[in-house]
Amino acid sequence: MGLRIGDIAPDFDIETTKGKINFHEWAKGNWVFFFSHPADYTPVCTTEMGRTSQLASEFAKRNVLPLGLSTDTVDEHLGWINDVNDTQNTDLQFPIVADKGKKVAELYDMIHSGESDTAAVRSVFIIDPNHKIRLTMTYPMAVGRNFDEILRVIDALQFSDKHNVACPADWRPGEKVIIKPTVSNEEAEKLFPQGWDELRPYLRFTEIK
Ligand code: BEZ
Repeated sequence: MGLRIGDIAPDFDIETTKGKINFHEWAKGNWVFFFSHPADYTPVCTTEMGRTSQLASEFAKRNVLPLGLSTDTVDEHLGWINDVNDTQNTDLQFPIVADKGKKVAELYDMIHSGESDTAAVRSVFIIDPNHKIRLTMTYPMAVGRNFDEILRVIDALQFSDKHNVACPADWRPGEKVIIKPTVSNEEAEKLFPQGWDELRPYLRFTEIK
């Protein structure tokens, strides 16, 4: 069975384009956007790597470290990063795991034999500072990921953690949030003195400035 939300992200030691890392040590105290891609020198991956690099300041603002992975070598990654930088007009600085032996890809269930026996699919793991997996997404090989959604869900996770609320469909920062059904009205009065709109007893929206 694959990894699930709430599981501790398995630890590993591996070579990356920024040297050898122990994952938990490297991630310590940060959120992590850990994402796999099928192979170096492929077109969709080139755009995804470029986009991640272009968004470096957005990830940093949210205390998120990006970490890529494919089942290629450090030398292959380094050569390809030159192409990513040239074609996507960026300067890629985050590490990419060189998982030629498929050790980490197998640990994280990133190889789906219906797509490929050797290459990873487009898995996403959003991992919190306690190394807990908070979100998983899996995209097929032929479709690039939506980075607006990746940043949005990080914002939503961080906001809901901070304020003990839930975020409705398509929520964006600044919009109303939902008081969790596990919070009684008596508790809500203390937590949300600004009040709330009660559309149904289980559907209460509040505004947090
Ligand atoms: C790509 O990353 O561009 C890609 C990889 C495998 C199949 C199709 C596209």
